[in-house]
Amino acid sequence: MIKFIDGQKVYLRPVLKEDLHKDYIRWINDNSNDVLTGHAMFPHTLAGLEDFLLSKAGDKNCVWLAIVEKKTHIHIGNIELCRIDFIHRNAEYKILIDKKAQRKGCGFEASMLLIEHGFKILNLHRIYLGVHEDNNPAIALYKKLGFKPEGILRQHFIRDGKYSNIMTMGLLSRDHAIRLK
Ligand SMILES: CC(C)(COP(=O)(O)OP(=O)(O)OC[C@H]1O[C@@H](n2cnc3c(N)ncnc32)[C@H](O)[C@@H]1OP(=O)(O)O)[C@@H](O)C(=O)NCCC(=O)NCCS
Repeated sequence: MIKFIDGQKVYLRPVLKEDLHKDYIRWINDNSNDVLTGHAMFPHTLAGLEDFLLSKAGDKNCVWLAIVEKKTHIHIGNIELCRIDFIHRNAEYKILIDKKAQRKGCGFEASMLLIEHGFKILNLHRIYLGVHEDNNPAIALYKKLGFKPEGILRQHFIRDGKYSNIMTMGLLSRDHAIRLK
């Protein structure tokens, strides 16, 4: 069993080829998630996902991990720090948890583990994200993690013919450290 970062409820490990065959392809083709994430704009095939996985190997600008429930060893979601910029020391954070595994504290714990990795191991200064203005569960999670709203990208996202706003949020390493004290 591969573990990259270990927690209480979940551990994070690299996404493996076998993960793509199972729930992952369902999650990212799921149009109801797409209202919130933008994953399902184009259909995703197994072959395409395998190419994507290969392209991530050795990529130093992205830490892309599977979230695995510790009790069951079931792959319940994915999380990443991408667009890592080692000059300005910032990165974008993204998360997706399977509907069946939501509201058990796994998203929060997985995020804390990756944020700690970002600040303490990758030496990042700032982690940022973009979230659909109406995605209240995600915004509540991000606020609980200490992210602060930074601005609104007006009419940045289109779904069903309607434009909507994206809120940008950010977390600085010093604010994160203070919160943990
Ligand atoms: C957002 C998401 C990652 C949360 O994951 P999760 O594992 O269900 O979250 P947790 O159980 O760890 O909850 C942590 C906090 O998030 C907030 N939260 C999570 N789900 C919520 C919901 N349905 N309604 C309100 N708040 C919610 C709460 O503040 C919660 O803290 P609390 O339990 O003390 O109230 C998950 O709902 C998801 O993957 N959604 C679809 C994809 C998505 O929207 N990704 C973000 C795109 S920007």
